[in-house]
Amino acid sequence: MGSFCSGTLSSKSSSLSSLLLCNKSLSVDEETSSRSSSATQSTSKNKSIQRLESLENLGSPPPGHKSETSSRVQSPAIEKRSILSGGAATKDFKSYSAFSSPRKISAKSGSSANMSTRTPNRIGKPPNILVLCDDSKKRGEISEILKSMLANDRYAIYDIHWDQLAVGGWADQTALLVLSGKVPNHTEHIPILLQFLGDGGRLFAWGCESPPFGPADSNSLEVENRSSTTGKNKFVLIYGSSQTHPISVMKTLWLPGKEYNLPLGFSRILETNDSEGYSRPLTASVYAKVKESNGIAIIIYDGGALGGRAVLSRVCFEDNNEESSLALLSILLSQSLGIDCTRIKTPEYTCGYLLGDHLKIKEFLAGIPSVIQQSDLTIEFIPRGTKGTKPSHERFPVLLECPEKFSMLDYFNNLTTKELGRLVIYTDVITSTMHAFQGHSLKHGIVVVANRQTCGKGRGKNIWLSPEGCACFTVQVNVPLDSQLGRRLPLIQHVAAMAVVLTIPNHKEICLRMKWPNDIYIETDKVGGVLVETRLQGKTATVLIGIGINVSNDHPTLCL
Ligand code: BTN
Repeated sequence: MGSFCSGTLSSKSSSLSSLLLCNKSLSVDEETSSRSSSATQSTSKNKSIQRLESLENLGSPPPGHKSETSSRVQSPAIEKRSILSGGAATKDFKSYSAFSSPRKISAKSGSSANMSTRTPNRIGKPPNILVLCDDSKKRGEISEILKSMLANDRYAIYDIHWDQLAVGGWADQTALLVLSGKVPNHTEHIPILLQFLGDGGRLFAWGCESPPFGPADSNSLEVENRSSTTGKNKFVLIYGSSQTHPISVMKTLWLPGKEYNLPLGFSRILETNDSEGYSRPLTASVYAKVKESNGIAIIIYDGGALGGRAVLSRVCFEDNNEESSLALLSILLSQSLGIDCTRIKTPEYTCGYLLGDHLKIKEFLAGIPSVIQQSDLTIEFIPRGTKGTKPSHERFPVLLECPEKFSMLDYFNNLTTKELGRLVIYTDVITSTMHAFQGHSLKHGIVVVANRQTCGKGRGKNIWLSPEGCACFTVQVNVPLDSQLGRRLPLIQHVAAMAVVLTIPNHKEICLRMKWPNDIYIETDKVGGVLVETRLQGKTATVLIGIGINVSNDHPTLCL
């Protein structure tokens, strides 16, 4: 968090990390009253094994606790947990009062009971892009192209499967649902897609073998099969105001229409209804056609009162050096689907800086090798006056100097702990602060703080978006297994989340609270999370507590 010293935060929040770390609740010898969970006891039997495990599943909610399954904060992976990723949330979602009085339809036709409700008072812009494609190779290609095109640190791209779509819980955190390949079961899945659109969702059918809102019987579609030297079909697309773009079309699957009429089987009006049961029709327009055949290449459905939009494209966008295909994709994503495609230069990885009391640093360096090979990162402690290697996603040189973007004064002046946070490795850009610990432990109490992470880890397989302004750090806490805390390791995640909340002086005013088991919310939006990983080494648990809090992230993220 550059804001520790860069002046972007008030002095109160600039000391966030130090205050968090000095919270007494994190103390290893803290007295606790309940008995440890059996899950923890059984793991502690594994002697001297280096085993990483997420403690989040070991803790159980308090009796009678009804877990909030607010759909807007659920994982697309359909783990029944709360939220996905950090960087998301603004207040600029469409005001519901502006809608023309919608017609309430009698039954929620086709809507699934499990489907999500897009709450009218939602705060943020959803951060997730879900890619739904049965062909894993194609799915990977789509994700790669999207990654290369979308605004950095703004979206998290996840795979989703058709059966997960039906389970629900994904819609409200989804900025865009991308479909490709086969649409397996129209009767089961199409109503879900329609409700998503009715609720203001954005959908992109990317070279689907049968378009989701087209003719039901894909066999009735005429498939053009022109060959070219590349084995792919070549077309020139006309779109927008008569711009031409050569496009490589893998398959042309929709029946070519006459002029700009919709192809057979496509309705001019797509009837969708929102999760409240109101009708939200979308109107079709032809966006692009194939010059040679006059066939329709791209249809856009829009006009949904809540902002729903669907782009149905039979074009498979490819990264085949034909820039035009990707240029068209970028236009569709940004202009038609409202996805932010402003790319800024990917940040370069930076050195770390080892900070702390001179004696502590000396003692630390004496106890560890100068090169520590972690599973995803090699840490190299560079002697003063020596030039280190170039930092990269896998090399992390750590210097014994003062960093420009971290105020040691602010940090250490606010730190009241004896052990935790007394040694710091600060860096501007790293893959993940968790990576600095994965393999070998460093030292009890040491904290790795980053201004940005390029591969921030959330719980489960989630991604933690970590742009500038997100406070990201991991602290190592060694807990003797026979201590009070050692017998209650699952408590650590709750205590850490609680510590974050209590650290913020005006937490009550801003409605900052812990949401069980370890999330940090402002009202209904997640602004922070805790990731705890534990490694058992003999009679000690090495607990890595990773904390991410949106402190001063840029628009559109909701932050402290
Ligand atoms: C969650 O899923 O809610 C937990 C998010 C934890 C994010 C923090 S940021 C610092 C540390 N480094 C990571 O890569 N993840 C954790």
